[in-house]
Amino acid sequence: MAELIVMTREGNEHTVQASDGASIMEAIRDGGIDELLALCGGCLSCATCHVYVDPDFADLLPAVSADEDDLLDGSTHRTERSRLSCQLQMTDALSGMRVVIAPED
Ligand code: FES
Repeated sequence: MAELIVMTREGNEHTVQASDGASIMEAIRDGGIDELLALCGGCLSCATCHVYVDPDFADLLPAVSADEDDLLDGSTHRTERSRLSCQLQMTDALSGMRVVIAPED
């Protein structure tokens, strides 16, 4: 079981457990953090699972797909650290990664 460090919009830090293969979105929600709406349930159609990822782990993450890129472009809060957390599968190598929940659009 890997650990994910999640910073909420209010700046509170939580450590949540993430099973191998679960998405980071699922790990955040299963960890009881309900401000990540993830309205489409991970179908890559809402962008309400927007997070900022730790740059130290960026090389371990899959590339942004064209569809993810399009959805992120719709956010006024996009940065170079932006990802949609439903598109990131948790692995042991990502244990200890810090993600920040992006502001709501
Ligand atoms: S949960 Fe909708 S795009 Fe990620």
